[in-house]
Amino acid sequence: MDARRAENGLRQSIEELPGSLIRHVAEPNMHREGLLKLWFGEPDVPTPQFIKDAATAALDDNHVFYAQNRGVPLLRQTISTYASALHGSDIGIDRITISGSGMNAIMMVSEALMSAGDNMVAVGPIWPNCKETVRIMDAEARQVSLRLGDDGRWQLDMDELFDACDDRTRAIFVNSPGNPTGWVMPRADQQALLDECRRRGIWLIADEVYIRFAYETDLPLGRAPSFLDIAKADDRLIVINSFSKSWSMTGWRLGWITHPVDCGEAFEKLVEYNIANPTTFVQYAGVVAIRDGEDFVTETVERYRRNRDIVVQRLGAMKRVTLSRPEGAFYAFFAVDGMTDSVAFAQKLIDDVGVGLAPGRAFSEDGEGWMRLCFAADTATVSAAMDRLDPVLG
Ligand SMILES: Cc1ncc(COP(=O)(O)O)c(C=O)c1O
Repeated sequence: MDARRAENGLRQSIEELPGSLIRHVAEPNMHREGLLKLWFGEPDVPTPQFIKDAATAALDDNHVFYAQNRGVPLLRQTISTYASALHGSDIGIDRITISGSGMNAIMMVSEALMSAGDNMVAVGPIWPNCKETVRIMDAEARQVSLRLGDDGRWQLDMDELFDACDDRTRAIFVNSPGNPTGWVMPRADQQALLDECRRRGIWLIADEVYIRFAYETDLPLGRAPSFLDIAKADDRLIVINSFSKSWSMTGWRLGWITHPVDCGEAFEKLVEYNIANPTTFVQYAGVVAIRDGEDFVTETVERYRRNRDIVVQRLGAMKRVTLSRPEGAFYAFFAVDGMTDSVAFAQKLIDDVGVGLAPGRAFSEDGEGWMRLCFAADTATVSAAMDRLDPVLG
């Protein structure tokens, strides 16, 4: 039998894909009454009404047919205008391709870049999907891990990152603000990484789906630093973005990719062969989300900032906890003294104190001993979770 085929005849690399450990913990416990569920990474409030109304209006206008592979021109133009204002440079429509979610964008970028035997180096701990797409392509996903400094802030050893690359490295993957870490890559590190990628001809993939969730920034619109602020239009840079987090649209499945102009045709084909086009009427709702959604984004981020402050203060004071200070995204990632099985510990927290968290092992081997708490919830729930966790962790 072909070594790369599994018993059932499917490709071995597909058989080897791990299931989600977050779901492994969450699914058997979802029905539990009174459980504070902070395990998944999604906003707590539904999509705002004005975005839903835009979708309804688009349906009434019969935007129900196939559309352009790379997205309806109005949405691409709206994103081009938004991104140009956000980054203070001209990001033309020819650099924008709409995708059917951030996840779909990540998969297409892997398809565009990775061949069997290539490798990608990711900064971790990281949301597992970013690396598994590479394995689907029979390529290798490597990881260089952030370390927590004595000041509670994550640090990336840039030399370690560069040393992990070799002549089969096609891309470095950076997710900042980071899931699960809350790490925000400082501008100086972004510049050093971009310079190194230019020098070695390595692609830089930046997952910036949490860019609007930054709590310690002085950039306009309260956003995190982006590679798009410093890159040139023809740099080998691909930036992934999504409507899911900023506009509370996780179920709508809409995102976008920013890429060099000469990659447009390749992404056009990849969209064609994956999904043909992102859902047409959803794209019209996306236009309204971006155009009219700034107040919503600002209010949401302010709420999460309050939640983050509560978590930093209360969880940070618990004796068994070593907490990384989340500078962005909406997660607290913390180590628990004496805990060595995060999946079992997640179940114990559910059973004993009624709090549902994600096990650190879901985000790579070196996430073992850690837990992730999503604070994109209402403030009362976050405070109640702190009250419940205190007897176990305090
Ligand atoms: C780092 C990161 N990238 C991408 C995504 C994908 O978001 P979506 O597929 O909902 O756009 C997520 C979702 O949790 C994420 O955490």
